[in-house]
Amino acid sequence: MPNAYISGTGGYVPPRVVTNDDLAKDYGIETTHEWIFQRTGIEERRYAEDGVGSADMGYEAAKIAIQRAGISVRDIDMMIFATLSPEHHFPGSGVFMQRKFTELFEGDMPRYVPAMDIRNQCSGFLYGLGTAASMVQAGACKHVLVVGGETHSAALDMTTRGRTVTSLFGDGAGAAVVSATDDPKRGVRKWTLGADGRGAESLWMPVWDIRKKPFVPLPDGRMGDAVLKPEMVWPQMDGKQVFRHAVEKMCMALMQVCFDLSLSANDIDLFVFHQANMRINQYVAQQLGIPEEKMIHNIHKYGNTTAATIPLLLAEAEETGRLKPGMKVAMVAFGAGFTWGAAIVDW
Ligand SMILES: CC(C)(COP(=O)(O)OP(=O)(O)OC[C@H]1O[C@@H](n2cnc3c(N)ncnc32)[C@H](O)[C@@H]1OP(=O)(O)O)[C@@H](O)C(=O)NCCC(=O)NCCS
Repeated sequence: MPNAYISGTGGYVPPRVVTNDDLAKDYGIETTHEWIFQRTGIEERRYAEDGVGSADMGYEAAKIAIQRAGISVRDIDMMIFATLSPEHHFPGSGVFMQRKFTELFEGDMPRYVPAMDIRNQCSGFLYGLGTAASMVQAGACKHVLVVGGETHSAALDMTTRGRTVTSLFGDGAGAAVVSATDDPKRGVRKWTLGADGRGAESLWMPVWDIRKKPFVPLPDGRMGDAVLKPEMVWPQMDGKQVFRHAVEKMCMALMQVCFDLSLSANDIDLFVFHQANMRINQYVAQQLGIPEEKMIHNIHKYGNTTAATIPLLLAEAEETGRLKPGMKVAMVAFGAGFTWGAAIVDW
């Protein structure tokens, strides 16, 4: 069975910084820096400019990951795009990103690289990693590009009504190339994924309901202008419920991959946790006896970037030299659905 490892990572965040104070000042939201920072650890986040979407940012991150993997986009056998903020209902963001690589279509031999979309919110990157590693291990692909990209800023309730959710999320993208290798020292050693659909409505954006005919409410049943209530358009969250399940499932998933490989926290060099809330991560770390110096964070500057979070952290850790070949890395995420996942990778 071929060995699958992460051969390159890349990250991209839009240049516009929005601080906690900006949410109050520029949008008139009744909030304070202290409230947000104390409960979440978030100081600021990035918002994409109008006209920039998840596939655009994903493309920027993907270009870096491909270059760092030492390959060309024509070597990629499959693209996986994880997002909860796709450009449109359909098609998914994968094809919008794929077509930006115009070199795929140049010359006499176009490369019609398959583009797969994954809808697993904050766990999207780990769902993508598990899929990519399996594709490589099965011998079906040599290089799989996994991208997480999010444009939350276009779909947040920027009023006091939406402040609980709005203060948490930011935009960005991260990417990783998963490749085949003969090197036994490197590889995706173990991954686990989970879901509990009973939590689907604890964090969701029910902007339409396909069970209803038509799928968006129309005034007086007239075809034409749809009227969407705020609770349909904007994300809705039961924060306490999400918090409780996040702690429980992140501990469970991390313990499972470590148990499967007979590892303890001492054997792991770097813990890469999804960044939903600093307090969630501190709680998980405390439960599992993980020292702060083995953890990396970006929540203070990017907020929760959902599927982009883990690849953004990996890319930045590689850039700064914090993550080096030979290290054992543990990743874990929890998100809407509920969905969760964990992975152990020899870098
Ligand atoms: C969101 C979260 C920080 C809220 O913290 P909390 O202690 O549960 O706060 P509550 O929602 O009970 O709100 C407490 C009060 O603060 C207010 N509040 C909410 N957001 C606020 C904000 N940004 N600024 C100021 N006040 C705010 C609420 O309106 C409420 O006021 P009330 O008591 O007058 O009704 C917390 O629940 C959390 O982090 N949950 C997990 C969320 C998450 O991780 N989501 C992503 C998962 S991938």
